[in-house]
Amino acid sequence: MYNNLLTHLEHGIFTVTINRPEKHNALNFETLHELDQVFNVIYETEEIKGVIITGKGEKAFAAGADISEFDGLNDINGRKASERGQEIFDKIENCFKPVIAAVNGYALGGGCELALACHIRVVSDNASFGQPEVNLGLIPGYGGTQRMPQLIGKGRAMELLMTADYVNANHALQIGLANHVVSIDNLIPQCKAILEKIFTKAPLAISMVIEAINVCYDNQSDGYQAEANYFGHCCDTSDFKEGVLAFKEKRKADFSGK
Ligand code: COA
Repeated sequence: MYNNLLTHLEHGIFTVTINRPEKHNALNFETLHELDQVFNVIYETEEIKGVIITGKGEKAFAAGADISEFDGLNDINGRKASERGQEIFDKIENCFKPVIAAVNGYALGGGCELALACHIRVVSDNASFGQPEVNLGLIPGYGGTQRMPQLIGKGRAMELLMTADYVNANHALQIGLANHVVSIDNLIPQCKAILEKIFTKAPLAISMVIEAINVCYDNQSDGYQAEANYFGHCCDTSDFKEGVLAFKEKRKADFSGK
């Protein structure tokens, strides 16, 4: 049914696994589109009470947007790509059923933003988070500039997004990026235990908790548009072309500031 996702429904828990382990589960446009489709199913299917999103394998949750699809991005289609990613991640954030990210390794770039869009993050002890877009001459484009400061505060978000530093699991726990750190074997069981506890509560009240907490951040919609506009602007720079080329050639980028 999906080319890049595996799905499994058991006892009301719907597990969505990003299945591109050979590319560290990088989110190509097709995978993003499938996430959109799968969330339509999640919204509409009564048997689904809660959701776990994870990545295939023990190395990566998702290592970002698929850099091999960046050729040909410019101000206009770059902004559209950002807006489309934001729209899909908004659908996840605003899902009226609980959504837990089971972060089983690298959650970088768009992968980190996917985890941020989920309601709760449970992470394995080998997980690491990061927004390395500035290494590519870019900024986060799927909501990271907005959700990261919401979760960890402005100062920490500024440092993380400007240095492109990776945050390990225990540090993620300290700064509020992770709710729990567990061994990889306990990752899915811990997510299931949280969902099963939530399932004992009133479902309408749960959906209203999600909605009410999200309203708290509603006034940030201009911020999301600014993110998409700046993401588009970055796509027209020489630094972006150099950053992507350097990644493909597995070398350090030489930025000119143009
Ligand atoms: N987009 C496309 N391909 C990606 C990818 C991405 N975001 N992340 C990893 N891959 C691919 C690699 O190109 C490689 O493919 P290849 O075997 O055909 O060369 C494969 O996945 C394995 O990655 P590799 O870099 O060899 O693994 P590693 O263990 O040495 O390093 C990372 C892992 C995650 C540190 C490294 O892959 C990386 O930095 N990825 C990009 C992260 C990023 O910048 N994300 C933000 C994008 S906006």
